Amino acid sequence: MLNMRRCGLENDVHNPSTEHRVKKIIAVYSSKGGVGKSTIAKELAALYSTKYKVLIIDMDIEFGDIATLFNVESRAGMMNSIRRLGDYQDYNAESVVDRESIICDIVVKINEELDIIPAPGNLLDAREIGETDIENMIDVMRDCAYDVIIVDTANTADDRTMAVLRRADKVVLVESLDTSTYVETMALFEFLRDMQFDISKMSMVINTVPSKAKELDIHIEELIDLIGIRFITTLPQNYRVRLQNNLAMPLVWMHRDSEFARGIRRIAEEFMPNMSYEKKDMFSKIFKK
Ligand SMILES: Nc1ncnc2c1ncn2[C@@H]1O[C@H](COP(=O)(O)OP(=O)(O)O)[C@@H](O)[C@H]1O
Ligand SMILES: [Mg+2]
Repeated sequence: MLNMRRCGLENDVHNPSTEHRVKKIIAVYSSKGGVGKSTIAKELAALYSTKYKVLIIDMDIEFGDIATLFNVESRAGMMNSIRRLGDYQDYNAESVVDRESIICDIVVKINEELDIIPAPGNLLDAREIGETDIENMIDVMRDCAYDVIIVDTANTADDRTMAVLRRADKVVLVESLDTSTYVETMALFEFLRDMQFDISKMSMVINTVPSKAKELDIHIEELIDLIGIRFITTLPQNYRVRLQNNLAMPLVWMHRDSEFARGIRRIAEEFMPNMSYEKKDMFSKIFKK
């Protein structure tokens, strides 16, 4: 008998044809590396997991570090399992049991509310994964009992990343304010428009990562106007981000009153309701004063 709780799929995996429970697939993306995609994906997933059932998928397939950020290991052979998921698009009683065992192979449980699918952690495996495998995996996971699926991505515009962005309901575009990011972002949007990608589902976050790059000589408003997508917030630089990443503990859990955690909450509230503090916490704050 499968231990379904291990994967958090205890509710409706047996009956995937019922109404999809996932309300949102949110991809965190940028044309730039080192701008905080994985950090933001991790923090968003951690925050959502305080209210919702969450899965985070690492689709920076070659060099993903979501497993490291949560201090878990990816599983050998996991990618073979992901490839086999494609065989289970048509559900019947037998295939469901097989499919569940495959999902249990690839999903790692962080706690009751938060599961992750790490990147393979092996470049040879990673190279085997194609666009269709990714589409199949996302389609299968969409049917599982999650309210939110966060997908961390690579800073590429290749077929695999585009498959993720197309499947996502919302895309958080992470930008840093330096000249090379700006040039790359302009090129990206030209490409996305050429590809007839639905940019209306994208919104932008500026992250103030520590950087020696030349700062952008342009106002944020101008940049937002030029890109033409919704702007959510600017995340401040905070030395604790790196510390918490190293400790594999999300900042939104450990330092939830920090400006950075507040910024993450503003992003979270864009897509899912009820991300504010619990009432009892608000009272305890008032009483402290
Ligand atoms: N707001 C921030 N303040 C300070 N350090 C940050 C901030 N955001 C990200 N970092 C650090 O920047 C580095 C790159 O972040 P990461 O999330 O790995 O970026 P990406 O996934 O885009 O490559 C990491 O060392 C991370 O700890
Ligand atoms: Mg990353």
